[in-house]
Amino acid sequence: MARKKIAFIGAGNVGATCAHLCFLRQLGDLVLYDIIDGLPQGKALDMLESAPVLGVDVTVIGSTDIKDIAGADCCVVTSGSPRKPGMSRDDLLKINAKVMNDVGSAIKQHAPNSFIIAVTNPLDAMVTQLKRVTGFAKHRIVGQAGVLDSARFRTFLASEVGASVTSVSAMVLGGHGDDMVPIRSQTTIGSVPVEKLIAGKRLEEIEQRTRVGGGEIVNLMKTSSYYAAGTAVYQMVEAYMLDRKQVLPCAAYLEGEYGHEGLFAGVPVVIGAGGVEKVLQIDLTATEKKAFDSSVAHVRELIDAMDKVIAAGN
Ligand code: 2OP
Repeated sequence: MARKKIAFIGAGNVGATCAHLCFLRQLGDLVLYDIIDGLPQGKALDMLESAPVLGVDVTVIGSTDIKDIAGADCCVVTSGSPRKPGMSRDDLLKINAKVMNDVGSAIKQHAPNSFIIAVTNPLDAMVTQLKRVTGFAKHRIVGQAGVLDSARFRTFLASEVGASVTSVSAMVLGGHGDDMVPIRSQTTIGSVPVEKLIAGKRLEEIEQRTRVGGGEIVNLMKTSSYYAAGTAVYQMVEAYMLDRKQVLPCAAYLEGEYGHEGLFAGVPVVIGAGGVEKVLQIDLTATEKKAFDSSVAHVRELIDAMDKVIAAGN
C-alpha cells in the first residue's frame, strides 16, 4: 500500500518546521513546494539526509513545480508574505489574497481530494478565499490559528503558576487578530479554574500578552513565529492523518454555529480522517460571547476589505 502524501505549499520557516515534525513522525511522504528555486529542493534533500541517522523511511521531495503536489492527501498552505516588523496581519491582505487564488486553483486541479490546512495570514480571510477558489466542502478546509494562540496562552499560564504545560487546559477562539478571545471560563490548571489560581488583573495581562503574542515574536526575530506555529500546524496534520479525532481550536467555516455564518472563525472542532468532523458548541460567558462577536465582526471587515482589493484588481 502506498504511503499517504502530505504537500507543503510554501517551504518557508513554518512549512519546513511542520514538515520536519511530519518527517520525524513518519506521517507520510512529503512534498515541499515553493516558488524560490533551490529552497524546497535544498530543504528536502537536507531533511532526507537525516533519515539514515533517524531510521526514517518516508521520502521527501522539493519542487518548484506545483504539479508535484498531485494526489496529496493533505495540503498545508503557508505560501505568501510573512509579517515584517510594524506590519499587522491585515497589511498582508492585499499581497496574500492573490497568492491564495493561485494556490487554490492548483490544489483544485492537482489535489482535489485533499484536506487543506491554511496558515497564511491574515488567516481568517485567506482561508475564506481558499475555500471560495477550491469550492471545497467545509469539512475539507480549515485554518490554523487557535492551536498556536492557545499554546501561547498555556505557556504563559504554566510559567505564571510554576506548573507543567501539560496541566494547563485552555482555548483561544475568534479571529487570529489582536482581538482574539482567550476563553477564561474554560481555562483550568490541573482541573482547577484559572481564576482561583491567578488574580484577575494578572490574568488580564497574560491574556493581553497572548493576543499580541505573534507580534512579540516578530519584534524579537524580525520575522514570524515558526517553531510554535509549525508545531501547531503539525498537531492538526497529525490529527487528520492518524484519525485522532482531537478537539482543537481551529478556524472552521461557520454555518450558524455561535450565531455566525458564511465565514471562518476560531472555534473548537474535532479533527479526524473526515477532516473537520464536528464543530463543538460550548457555553461562553456573556463577556466572552461579546468579545467573540466583536472578533468575528473584524474577520467580516477583513473579508470585505479583501473583496474590495480583489474587485479593484490591484
Ligand atoms: C503568529 O501569531 C505567524 O500569525 C502567526 O505568530
